[in-house]
Amino acid sequence: MSEPTESTPEATPEISEATVDAAVDAATAAIEGAADSAALRAVRAAHTGEHSPLARLNATLRTVAPENKAASGKLVGQGRARVNQAFAAREAEVLAAEASAQLEAERVDVTAAADRHPMGARHPLSLLQDAVSDVFIGMGWEIAEGPEVESEWFNFDALNFDADHPARAMQDTFFIDPPEAHLVMRTHTSPVQVRAMLERDLPIYVLAPGRVFRTDELDATHTPVFMQFEGLAVDKGLTMAHLRGTLEHFVQAIFGEGARVRLRPSYFPFTEPSAELDFWHPTFKDGPRWIEWGGCGMINPNVLRSAGIDPEVYSGFAFGMGVERGLMLRNDVQDMRDMVEGDVRFSQQFGMVV
Ligand code: DAH
Repeated sequence: MSEPTESTPEATPEISEATVDAAVDAATAAIEGAADSAALRAVRAAHTGEHSPLARLNATLRTVAPENKAASGKLVGQGRARVNQAFAAREAEVLAAEASAQLEAERVDVTAAADRHPMGARHPLSLLQDAVSDVFIGMGWEIAEGPEVESEWFNFDALNFDADHPARAMQDTFFIDPPEAHLVMRTHTSPVQVRAMLERDLPIYVLAPGRVFRTDELDATHTPVFMQFEGLAVDKGLTMAHLRGTLEHFVQAIFGEGARVRLRPSYFPFTEPSAELDFWHPTFKDGPRWIEWGGCGMINPNVLRSAGIDPEVYSGFAFGMGVERGLMLRNDVQDMRDMVEGDVRFSQQFGMVV
């Protein structure tokens, strides 16, 4: 130590190869020992920062005799360069190790099986109902709706069922308490005919799909809750030829070009004349044949009158069919219970992607 300095409380080191080497060795040892980038940053502050041994050596330069300044400066400068090199080398190693550790931690197995959440599928009955609706919408008809809890008047009286008419007993009705309310679970979609005639302007062309209820036991061919669709047309000059042509177009759309319609005389209180609808099923599993599927007829004048329509001016036709039976016939479903149990494997057989 040639001269005392005022500022440094610690013993002021002297610049020599030994002191510089000692500082460099201490720094490189610490750098080598730094395990990660955080440790390395701390080492850098301690060994190259303001109060580091090398910085302190550097600070003594100003007290060095002028003729020795260049040599001492070079010594300290080279020492600092060695530390910086060691730091840069170690920093590259540590950062590379950290990057590969992170890649490893975030590794994604692109071959792993996808974790798909099944979203559910539309039921084949809903799909058939939509297909039926589309056929009529394609002819310019509208879709009509009515309530499932229906007044007895719409379900029976307005449809020309007398209070003690045997036809009323023909249908096994769920009555809603109290009896004075005269409410039923609708036994067919026909009450929507009357609602449509009361609500809509003439002429009327509507299709009314919907759920209906009867006190049937659940078995292979019956269910207490099922679906129907009801057709209603009211216009001037409608005849049975229009009914027949409409139904023929419809069954061909659902069962194929080869389908044909046959009407067999029958009885319903709300139609006169009434008919059972048979259709020629061109692709039936046991070979083409006539199949019965629903009722139809010309709207009884009493029904037109109950909806305030003059039967001298207007006429109309109506038809009603079951969707479940339609699905059984179209897709050869043997047991109706499969349709109501909600097992997705049933829907999947209809090509549904779940
Ligand atoms: N509503 C009848 C039933 O459920 C089916 C029916 C027959 C509807 C003749 C009609 C019709 O519109 O004209 O048994």
